[in-house]
Amino acid sequence: MTYKVGLLGLGTVGAGVVKILQNPKGRHPLLPDLQITHVGVRSLTKARDVAISSDIVTDDLDSIVNDPEIDIIVEVIGGIEPAKSLILKAIANGKHIVTANKAVIARYGNEIFTAAKQKGVYVMLEAAACGGIPVIQALKQSLGGNRISELTGIVNGTTNYILSRMYFEGADFEATLAEAQKLGYAEADPTADVDGYDAADKMAILASLAFGDRVKLEDIYREGIRAITSADIGYAKELGFTIKLLGIAKRDVTQEDSPLEIRVHPTMIPLQHPLANIHGVTNAVRIEGDPIGEVVFSGPGAGSGATASAVVADIINIVAALKAIPNNINQLMGCSHEHYAEIAP
Ligand code: HSE
Repeated sequence: MTYKVGLLGLGTVGAGVVKILQNPKGRHPLLPDLQITHVGVRSLTKARDVAISSDIVTDDLDSIVNDPEIDIIVEVIGGIEPAKSLILKAIANGKHIVTANKAVIARYGNEIFTAAKQKGVYVMLEAAACGGIPVIQALKQSLGGNRISELTGIVNGTTNYILSRMYFEGADFEATLAEAQKLGYAEADPTADVDGYDAADKMAILASLAFGDRVKLEDIYREGIRAITSADIGYAKELGFTIKLLGIAKRDVTQEDSPLEIRVHPTMIPLQHPLANIHGVTNAVRIEGDPIGEVVFSGPGAGSGATASAVVADIINIVAALKAIPNNINQLMGCSHEHYAEIAP
């Protein structure tokens, strides 16, 4: 059986998804069972970085989420609206969802997962935090036996790219931001990156999964990198430190009911710190748990291919579950909508 995918968005990430699905050879054996039958875009005239038949492209996004033939909706439009409404309409129509939308999940995850639970559909979001790093899957499943006490991460590629260029080359903030935009790392409005909003969204999602609490954005202290100058970085360097925009979430697990502390801000860290040598668009997440101890995940945190890699993995997991392939059903156990409904922000 072939599963029909409706893709909402054909920007940096959407184009990356199409490229993977157009060239399945050597990749997961389920990829040939997927077919993108509809692509929704906001502008039909915009030049695209991918070859796709114009017959399947429409600017009527509602028609895609309402199409009874479509099994899975992949939402990579970004931003709050119309993305959130389209996701909810698609769920109401019984479609499974794959989304890269951290802003929507961090704010409306609970509403979305509750609706998904009622309809019995999957909502998958590996691409919503840290691009290609499979950290959501790890938190939902592989690390499930651990009591997590700390999750610290470089979770925004754009700011890490800027800070790395400032550290190594004394590069200019604005020029480096413009480069990050050209490379497809930055959000449509790069304020979300530079002022830490994007990192806060991702920390709300990661911490909700790690600590089993609904983390609300308003509970996260947030400060971006706008005030960091090359001189600050130069002084840090002289002292054997670097400056990184970190997301930090921790709880004193030795104390009953101890509160979760969660914040995003530029941080001076010594060069021996496990996150100090994470440069460029690379993201990294350090997790401390009992009994595992310390685990560090790192990899490309933004950009077309990395984010598309996570999106396609989520589609594969849904298809595997729908086909009732035992191993993959086991994989999905930890990421069912029921689990999300408990812990989504
Ligand atoms: N603007 C985001 C970043 C994209 O730079 O990390 C990936 O979420």
